Amino acid sequence: MDHFLYRDGALFAEDVPISEIAAAVGTPFYVYSTATLLRHFKLFDDALEGTDHLVCYAMKAASNQAILKTLAQAGAGMDVVSGGEYLRAKAAGVPGDKIVFSGVGKTAEEIRTALTGGIRQFNVESEPEMQVISAVAQELGVIAPITVRVNPDVDAKTHAKIATGKSENKFGIPISRASEVYALAASLPGLEVIGIDVHIGSQLTELDPFELAYNKVAELTERLRAEGHTIRRLDLGGGLGIPYTRSNDAPPLPVEYGAMIKKTLGHLGCEIEIEPGRLIAGNAGLMVSKVIYVKSGEGRDFLILDGAMNDLIRPAMYEAHHDIVAVEEPAAGVEQQPYDIVGPVCESGDTFAKQRNMPPLKSGDLIAFRSAGAYGAVMSSEYNTRPLIPEVLVHGDQFAVIRERPSFDEIINRDTIPEWL
Ligand code: LLP
Repeated sequence: MDHFLYRDGALFAEDVPISEIAAAVGTPFYVYSTATLLRHFKLFDDALEGTDHLVCYAMKAASNQAILKTLAQAGAGMDVVSGGEYLRAKAAGVPGDKIVFSGVGKTAEEIRTALTGGIRQFNVESEPEMQVISAVAQELGVIAPITVRVNPDVDAKTHAKIATGKSENKFGIPISRASEVYALAASLPGLEVIGIDVHIGSQLTELDPFELAYNKVAELTERLRAEGHTIRRLDLGGGLGIPYTRSNDAPPLPVEYGAMIKKTLGHLGCEIEIEPGRLIAGNAGLMVSKVIYVKSGEGRDFLILDGAMNDLIRPAMYEAHHDIVAVEEPAAGVEQQPYDIVGPVCESGDTFAKQRNMPPLKSGDLIAFRSAGAYGAVMSSEYNTRPLIPEVLVHGDQFAVIRERPSFDEIINRDTIPEWL
């Protein structure tokens, strides 16, 4: 459920008409609903009720300061994957002891930043990384709390570009090598081993792969404890999928996911951490765009939008489907017609949808891409010198621009000219 509904024939974000935001900020833009963000966070928090837990929002999904602050004020921790994300989380007021640091390639500099500012734990992905964390911690005179990310070799049954839990992926250490790697961790003076981490992929639409992985984590917990390690925290990653279409086969709900976690891992007495990104932000955001031209091609009509692949790359990159709706609600019974919906960037890949049924549209009409809150704005670029589009946050009947559209001068002046020119 989200808070983008039609009222009296017009699409609203909570209590604000989308057309009013478009008039104020221009198109294209991203708009997020505070109520939806909070609702999704609470679904996870409630799903783990009764267990010691922390929901660490995977901020790579949408990392605007205002979004982070909204979630942090509700009690969320953060999962970060770079020094930049760490600093963003801190700037939004998240305390270090609620920030976990994931990612395969943390540099010594990033590790230093996190150890200096305070960190809940590093999720370590390799032996060399473990050695660097220990060395930096020693240099700073602190002890770094760590988990080791294990790769359970399960098929997440998701898009190949976002599956991470098979042995051929670059992530984690093979679960079969865990004893060896934990022994090394225990021997390093700058580290304190506190648990195990696992994350098998994103946009998972079934619970089975999670359950397979978590059962392996349960076994591993017992084995490592028998080998003398303290395992008191289990970080279970993110990955629960969202409905991108309004069909009946929706992915499992957070409450079902939570029940499965309790069933597979509850007996171990560990603190549970999860890192959802997409499910919190995905359906809490729209990208709104305007039709520039309707172009009749051979056997097909194109809707040429002012939004493009640089603003929302998911369709070009993952063949992802986003529902696209007219901001003005189509009259009941209006006949739909198929359009190829494209942006103005000079690549055929700049296609959002092919032969998508839409109500008849004309130049100047507004349309909205649903489910664009996660991996939308954060993956955008200025390709074709198209300015990053603004982000807007709605809260009841209020809205605020939370990232401005840069001017062309700002973009151009970021370049510097060498003196020989
Ligand atoms: N934890 C770790 C270690 C991750 O790598 C990820 C996502 C998450 C948590 C959050 O997963 P989520 O709950 O959002 O599924 N750009 C792609 C998605 C990439 C996901 C990368 N890792 C897309 O647009 O579909």
